[in-house]
Amino acid sequence: MSLEERARRERLLSNGAGAAAACRACRIGYERRNNVYGEGEPCARLMLIGEGPGETEDLLGRPFVGRAGDLLEKMLGAIGLAREDVYICNTVKCRPTLLDGEKLRNRAPDPAEMANCRPFLDEQIEIVDPSVILALGAPAAKSFLGRDFAITRGRGRWYDGPRGIPLMVTFHPAYVLRQGGTALTETKRQVWSDLKAVRARLDEPSLSEPAQASLFE
Ligand code: URA
Repeated sequence: MSLEERARRERLLSNGAGAAAACRACRIGYERRNNVYGEGEPCARLMLIGEGPGETEDLLGRPFVGRAGDLLEKMLGAIGLAREDVYICNTVKCRPTLLDGEKLRNRAPDPAEMANCRPFLDEQIEIVDPSVILALGAPAAKSFLGRDFAITRGRGRWYDGPRGIPLMVTFHPAYVLRQGGTALTETKRQVWSDLKAVRARLDEPSLSEPAQASLFE
């Protein structure tokens, strides 16, 4: 990827981040501390899409920087990727919350919030144009595959994602963190299998770096 192309994508993403930060289409746009647009390599071959920012993400304005983010980095490391190699974002850019007594808790984004935020996500996909999308958890998967999508049956398979980009679904790292005992072992085994499929797909010659000869055309 040329330096010019990289700079062009960075510029477009920065414009998108500005537009998302100015958006107040939902109530959560007024409630959040920071807009969490997304971050990472603008020319990434792998894009990770989670559900929505949690408390730490809202505080720092960055996706996946809490406990789930730590696990996500380990998952990426297991297939030879660093956080900086991929592009990470969410279906919604503001933290969805509910008041539970005195405490603000995270909740899943509702369909209207996801629909309002979708143009920002679609634009990110268009700009980064990844070779593979990995949806993390059921809400992210449902936003692409429909509300009947069942993660226990549907994860670990390839789907035709947005713009025809191959899409894989795996469990959300926060879900993995909630497991214990044999459920934890089994969930980790499934996530590892999904990650290996992503690695294999990225390593396919047609998706890998351009053939040497084309460098000189
Ligand atoms: N969970 C998500 O889905 N996204 C984040 O950015 C953090 C936690």
